[in-house]
Amino acid sequence: MSSSTTSVSQALHWRYATKKFDTRKIPDATWEVLRQSLSLTPSSYGLQPWKFVVVENPALRAKLKPHSWDQTQIVDASHLVVFTHRTEITEADVNRFTQLISTVRGVPAEKIEPYRQMMLGGVVKGKDAAGQKEWAARQLYIALGQLMAVAAVLEIDTCALEGIDPAKYDEILGFKGTGYQTVVACALGYRATDDQYAQAQKVRFPTDQVVTKL
Ligand SMILES: Cc1cc2nc3c(=O)[nH]c(=O)nc-3n(C[C@H](O)[C@H](O)[C@H](O)COP(=O)(O)O)c2cc1C
Repeated sequence: MSSSTTSVSQALHWRYATKKFDTRKIPDATWEVLRQSLSLTPSSYGLQPWKFVVVENPALRAKLKPHSWDQTQIVDASHLVVFTHRTEITEADVNRFTQLISTVRGVPAEKIEPYRQMMLGGVVKGKDAAGQKEWAARQLYIALGQLMAVAAVLEIDTCALEGIDPAKYDEILGFKGTGYQTVVACALGYRATDDQYAQAQKVRFPTDQVVTKL
C-alpha cells in the first residue's frame, strides 16, 4: 500500500463512535475543511435538499441534551452539526438548482429544461410526501458519512447521533415553519483520554463477507 492508502486505512481503524469528548476546540482551518465536506457532498441529481446547522450556542446545546438520550457528546464536543432536509421537495427547489447550474456553468435555461423535467418527474411529482422525505433523508446520510470519513483523516473524532428526538430539535432550534426538519446529528471534536470505547475492538463482519464479487 502507498503511504496515502496506509494512512486512510489507519484513519478508518482509528476512528470510533466517541462517547466522551474533552473540551478542546477544532482549529478554524480544520473546521473549514469539515464545513466544506458538507457542502461538497454529492446528492441525487445534485439537488442538495439540505441544510447543516452548527449549534454553537451552549444554552441551546444544553436544551437539546435531555432530548438526546442525555448523551454528553451534545454539550461536550467542540462542534455539533444538526442535519436537516427540506420538508417537501417543490418545483421551486428544482428551479433554484437549475438556475444555479445556469449561472455556474453558463448554460442557457432551455438546455437544462429536459434535466429540470427529469427532476420534476423523479422527485417532485414522482414521489408522495413520505417518499420525498425518505429520499431527502438518504441524501443527508451521504453527508454524514462523508463528514465522518473526512474527520477521521484529519484526526478529528466524531459521533453520529441518531439517539435524538428530531421533533424536539425542530422545536428548540426554531426549524418549525422554515421548510427544514431534523433527521440526525453529529458531534465532532477530540476524544477524552479516559473514553474506554477508544480501546474497544472494532466489531465488523469480515470484508469478504460484506463486499462480494460476482
Ligand atoms: C447513523 C448513526 C447513528 C448513531 N447514533 C448514535 C448515538 O445516538 N449514540 C452513540 O453513542 N452512537 C451512535 N452511533 C454509533 C454507532 O453505534 C457506531 O458507529 C457503531 O456501533 C460502530 O462502532 P464504531 O463507529 O465505533 O466503529 C451511530 C452511528 C450511526 C452511523
